[in-house]
Amino acid sequence: MTKPDLNIDFAGVQFINPFIIAASPPTDSREMIARAFEAGWAGVVIKTVSPVGNYSPLVFPMMAGWQPGANLTALHNIDLLSDKLADEWMEDVAWLKRRFPQQRVIVSIVGESESDWRQLVQQSEQAGADMIEASISCPQGSMVEGESDVDGWMISQDARLTEKVTRWSVEAAQHIPVYVKITSGVTDIRQIARAVERGGASGICMIDSVEGIMGLDLATFSPLPSVRGYGSHSGMTGRAIKPIGLRCVADVVGTVKIPIAGVGGIYTWRDALEYLLLGASALQVCTGVMHKGFGLIDQLLNGMGRWMAENGYERPSQLVGLAQPRIKGVEELSPRDRVLSRIDLDACIHCGLCYVACRDGAHMAIRFGEERIPLVDEERCVGCGFCASVCPVPACIHMELVDA
Ligand SMILES: Cc1cc2nc3c(=O)[nH]c(=O)nc-3n(C[C@H](O)[C@H](O)[C@H](O)COP(=O)(O)O)c2cc1C
Repeated sequence: MTKPDLNIDFAGVQFINPFIIAASPPTDSREMIARAFEAGWAGVVIKTVSPVGNYSPLVFPMMAGWQPGANLTALHNIDLLSDKLADEWMEDVAWLKRRFPQQRVIVSIVGESESDWRQLVQQSEQAGADMIEASISCPQGSMVEGESDVDGWMISQDARLTEKVTRWSVEAAQHIPVYVKITSGVTDIRQIARAVERGGASGICMIDSVEGIMGLDLATFSPLPSVRGYGSHSGMTGRAIKPIGLRCVADVVGTVKIPIAGVGGIYTWRDALEYLLLGASALQVCTGVMHKGFGLIDQLLNGMGRWMAENGYERPSQLVGLAQPRIKGVEELSPRDRVLSRIDLDACIHCGLCYVACRDGAHMAIRFGEERIPLVDEERCVGCGFCASVCPVPACIHMELVDA
């Protein structure tokens, strides 16, 4: 088996592998970035810098897990910007470039005015940044002075403003590519992607944290995370948002010609492959790194390399978009196939979860008498798979195609 070459090209920039750490706390200090590079990450996006720093002392980094512990499903944060101002970062960009010439330093920027956007691009380029990520997707809102007739409250919810800000950033760059990070929180993400392309960007990154309210503190009625009794819209990240990220990539590929960096819920090499197969050509990881550490890169590289070798692929670029033809309208799928649930009674622990789920949530197709043995009623079963989804025993229930 030939060992695959994991190099990629994203928007004309070469990376030693497809894995970049997304703008986030792990990229908010040069010491942490240095450790990420030593671990083998191909690039980092420095946590979003602005000329003003964090807006208010009430908005400080905070996170809370939905299911604390190993199965962390999602994080929620109200962590807007880098702790450091743009001016302070520039020395560190130069330091990182001197120490790690093989790896890519991308600066994520956000401005409040046209001059901010232009200046941040110029400063970052002069400091030696390899690329600019224009972040117009912060779930706590991002706007531009003097722009009042705007949809939504993030720049990337408004196509006109997206194009405008993209153009300012692109025009300000002399030699390095500018790409734009957009939100999934729009009715049709393709319209925003087209605006980014019209603005002249070299690529698109998606998705940012998904805007939500993670819950309430029932003692104060404050949204969580609570800051002295008040909360705000928070940004959800991690495993729970992968389906949204994958869908956005799938929707935008084919709409624009510029390349896509996929981000959202990548924890494993399988997640990474899914993003490539749907059309992303570079990959960013945030919550996975925060949760598992910089060493996650070993699992990502080894798993991807092994899978590619076993399946005869030499470069990640060969995988980009291969799954696209497999996406159809639901009406084009084949609903006449006869599929039945099969339960392995040797593996079954007789908990009854499949029975309850099927009885009250599906097709009442599992019988479960006093002996606590689940039996599938083949007349009623439609093979929906809900019983397998709730079964706690791996591979105990599977769906079988009995008549195509
Ligand atoms: C605590 C935290 C802070 C973040 N800060 C930024 C930021 O400053 N700028 C930005 O564009 N995205 C920021 N993000 C979003 C990530 O870059 C990424 O888009 C998002 O977390 C989805 O990827 P993931 O599921 O791998 O975490 C932040 C995410 C987290 C969890």
